[in-house]
Amino acid sequence: MTLNSKDTLVPAQPNTLLQKFQEDVLWGLACNPKKLESKYFYDKEGDVLFQQIMACPDYYLTSCEQEIFQHKTNELAAVITLDSDEFDLIELGVGDASKSQYLLEYLAVRKVPFTYMPIDISAHILAILKTRLQKDIPQLEVMPLHGEYFDMLSKAFSLSIRRKVVMFLGANIGNMSIAEAGRFCIALRAHLNPGDLVLIGFDLKKHPQTILNAYNDRSGITAKFNLNLLKRINRELEGNFDLAHFEHYQNYDPGTGACKSYLVSLDDQKVTVSGHEILFRRNETIYMEVSQKYTPEEITGLAESTGFTSVDRSLDSKNWFLDAFFRAV
Ligand code: AVJ
Repeated sequence: MTLNSKDTLVPAQPNTLLQKFQEDVLWGLACNPKKLESKYFYDKEGDVLFQQIMACPDYYLTSCEQEIFQHKTNELAAVITLDSDEFDLIELGVGDASKSQYLLEYLAVRKVPFTYMPIDISAHILAILKTRLQKDIPQLEVMPLHGEYFDMLSKAFSLSIRRKVVMFLGANIGNMSIAEAGRFCIALRAHLNPGDLVLIGFDLKKHPQTILNAYNDRSGITAKFNLNLLKRINRELEGNFDLAHFEHYQNYDPGTGACKSYLVSLDDQKVTVSGHEILFRRNETIYMEVSQKYTPEEITGLAESTGFTSVDRSLDSKNWFLDAFFRAV
């Protein structure tokens, strides 16, 4: 195996990222109601907790999408290679790539020429991923990009001259409101050429209790995952949150499809973050995350209102999760 010249981790600037984290946290906690951004869940501990969530039986999303990638690999590969031009495969918010790995292996074994560009906010997870992929699929060209989605997308687009296939799996799009998802697709479309493909994983609307249970697991991992952001603030931003005085609260609204998580302050309390005092009332909430659920019709609507056509889709056997191909018009 030879190392190729592109085989480097593009470094993000740690100070800038820390500053942005501080600004975002202080701004969010100054809002009324208070809020934090779920993209900050994923520090080293957050990564581990999210792995545990994915392995948790209540959290059905991962196994559903895994089923699609494992058992419908040929369907997915057929859409991607329909256009015979060479392409680059960019993945946003890659995590551990356990699902995409089926597709990467399938394409690599068939000697389809492409570069895999995984983008993630977690440098830690990218480093682990790269090592694993080099071992499991030595012939695969991997170029990890560390940073925020759109910064790294611009980077990826400046490095690649081939047709683009962009994957955004795992219902990561669910962390955006419907309006934000629309703006996200428009921004993505602006970077693409007609014919380029996007593959997006959506969690579908289903029995509300099934959805609520996925984010309210009895083992309390999701609660820990949410509270871990306070821990991260304590560590990285000189905060003094007392985790015992906050409690996880989850809510699902079947009408809007929004599954939202909050932390509830159990007392009147004063917290300091980076020298700034923040007051909490008893029962005051911090809005932490939305996990938006869709119907298949809403997914088609999203494509058509943002410069794409919805060209293909794959579902798991329970029809709980949908991976949709959007083609740039
Ligand atoms: C990684 C955004 C897909 O919203 O389902 C899991 C994150 N939060 N449990 C989701 C998450 C709580 C997850 N995504």
